This record gives sequence, structure tokens and C-alpha cells, in this order.
Amino acid sequence: MSDQMTRITLARRPEGTPVPEDFGLETGPLPEVADGEMLVAVEVFSLDPYMRGRMNAVKSYAAATEIGDTMTAQGVGRVLVSKAEGFAEGDMVMGTTGWASHAVLKATEALKWDNGLPPSTALGVLGMPGFTAWTGLREYGRPKAGETLVIAAATGPVGAMVGQLAKAAGLRTVAVAGGADKCALAREKFGFDAAVDHRAYDDASSLRKALAEACPDGVDIYWENVGGKVLEAVIPLMNDHGRVPICGTIAWYSGVDGDTDRLPMVWRSMLTKRLSVNGFIIFDHWGGYRDFLTEVAPKVASGEITYLEDVTEGLENAPEAFISMLSGGNMGKTLVRLA
Ligand SMILES: NC(=O)c1ccc[n+]([C@@H]2O[C@H](COP(=O)([O-])OP(=O)(O)OC[C@H]3O[C@@H](n4cnc5c(N)ncnc54)[C@H](OP(=O)(O)O)[C@@H]3O)[C@@H](O)[C@H]2O)c1
Repeated sequence: MSDQMTRITLARRPEGTPVPEDFGLETGPLPEVADGEMLVAVEVFSLDPYMRGRMNAVKSYAAATEIGDTMTAQGVGRVLVSKAEGFAEGDMVMGTTGWASHAVLKATEALKWDNGLPPSTALGVLGMPGFTAWTGLREYGRPKAGETLVIAAATGPVGAMVGQLAKAAGLRTVAVAGGADKCALAREKFGFDAAVDHRAYDDASSLRKALAEACPDGVDIYWENVGGKVLEAVIPLMNDHGRVPICGTIAWYSGVDGDTDRLPMVWRSMLTKRLSVNGFIIFDHWGGYRDFLTEVAPKVASGEITYLEDVTEGLENAPEAFISMLSGGNMGKTLVRLA
């Protein structure tokens, strides 16, 4: 067993879109393990859009990552040393590992992954993104058969799960995705009824025309993943009493350029269409995670719910993979596998 730990740190706060120099690579001794804790050799960790927000020194629903700290992430790995009741050497566990080769996890914050499904699924289809989709659609989307749902970032882990659950509930599902390949993926793998390439339209009004064709009966649920041009295009297409679960606004995570003046128009539509707009953060809902696993894990095991992973090999390549994912370079759930 190596006595060294390698980790990716936040070297400085990004200005706009992150660049590789914003990250550091550090090696040091393995951390100590206290009672109630375990040392884990990380096998795979998750790269998620929310991590961009943690790089800023602003107050949000979670504390910012400090300069020099390990970048935050959920990961899965094998227990090397356990001083925690119920966890033994060799167990596969999920927890907040960070972008690192090793992590010390508290027993109270770790979940044993022993359901026979690939450990990587604990980070995507059966992890935080899949759970976000399942929770948000039930609680805030409130889908009814025959309705139309629109979602962008449709081939990512949140979008793919929302699309499949909504389709199974009898909705017309319309994907917004970046590029022809992702649109084909949305239709062919994730079962969307239609897919619109947001990169093919320069402005919100031309994107809106394409979306109007894909949504002949209007839009009942706009699952907000991205903000920006897509938000502006969709809101005027909403039907009365439509629902807008606000899950993410990735178009604005590295800054807002130019389109703030259109906010009043969007906001007014919220009023005139009597929309239900709910911001939500999945960390408030963790109590339901086991119910989610009970319902959805068998569907993943049987193939009824499908998923796609985009795996980068090597800790040192995590920053490039993260930067690429933020601008749509990923095909499926972004993961980093350690050698
Ligand atoms: N509220 C919560 O608790 C919660 C939990 C999990 C995730 N989220 C949010 O859910 C959203 C999706 O997360 P994910 O993990 O499934 O991400 P993801 O789809 O794997 O990756 C992000 C995707 O966003 C799209 N994108 C980036 N910039 C865009 C832009 N300007 N306009 C349109 N699309 C853009 C890209 O897809 P295309 O190439 O297809 O455009 C990119 O692949 C994110 O906003 C995330 O922050 C929120």
C-alpha cells in the first residue's frame, strides 16, 4: 500500500471559465484515521457542475472551497483501514472523498456499496444526480400523462434520468442538447420524443421557434438545468399552471454576459402564466435517498433505466475533464477513474 496521497487542490479562484492553472496537484503522507473513521483508496470520483460554484468565495448553500483545499467530490473506493464499526477492510464505500487518491471517511457519512451494481453508478444514475432528478420531478415537476416536459443538458445524468422518468409517466419529452450527436443520443438512448440542438441557434427567439415546433401543445414542465438562452426561449412557450423546477443554471456558473436585461420579460411571464417555480437543493432531501435506491436500483439492474458514463483516466487529468464538462464536452456522467 502506498504511504502517499495525491490530491487536486484549488490553487486560485477562477475568473470566468476555469483554466488548468486554477488547480494544483499535491502529494503528501496518508492522513491519520481516528475512531469511527476509515481510510479509503479512491477508485472513481464524480465531477459535477456544482463544484464550479464552490470555487468562488461567495456565500451559498454550501461553504466555498478554500485556496489550497482539496477540490470537493463524491467518490467510491475500497476501505484500506477501518476504525469504524460496520466497515471492514475491502468494503466498497461511497462518500465525500474529494479529488484525491485517498480519503478519510466518517462511518456516519459513508454508504457501503454492496448491491452488485458497478460502483460508478453510485455517483451518477444511482447517485446524487439521479436522486436529484427523481426527487425534483416528483416534488416540483408533478408530471401528468399527456403533458410536455422540456429539459436541457438532456444527456447528462440529471437530464437523462428526468427524461426517462417523465417518458415512463406518459409525458412527451423534449431534449435540448449541444450538438447533433447529443441530440441523437437523447432520442435513441434516453427515449426523448424530440431533441433540439441549442448550438444551432444564435439567439433565444430562433431557438424558441424550433422548440415551439417540438412542443405543439406547449410546455407544462420546464426542468431548469441551464438558464441563459434556453430559459429565455422556453418560458414564453409555457402553458398556464406550468411548473419550473429550478435545478441548475450552468450557463451562468462562470459569470453572466449580456442577457440580464431580458430578466424582466422572463420574470413577468412567471406571473402572467401563474407558474410554480421552485428552487431546490438536493442536499435538503437526503432522507429520501434509500427510497430512491429501493425504487430505481432494480430498474437500472434490469436495464429499464439506462445510463452513460464519460470516464477520464488519472487524477491529474481531472481539471481538464471538469473544464470540458462545464462547456458540454462530456457525453454522459463525468467521472475520473484512478489507476
Ligand atoms: N439543485 C440540485 O441539487 C442539483 C443537483 C445536481 C445537479 N444540479 C444541476 O443540474 C444541471 C445538470 O447537471 P448534470 O450533472 O446532469 O450535468 P451534465 O449534463 O453532465 O453537464 C453539464 C451540461 O450542461 C450543458 N451546458 C453547459 N453550458 C450550457 C449552456 N450555456 N447552455 C445550455 N447547456 C449548457 C452541457 O450539455 P450540452 O452540451 O447538451 O449543452 C453540459 O454537458 C447543472 O446545472 C447542475 O448544477 C443541481
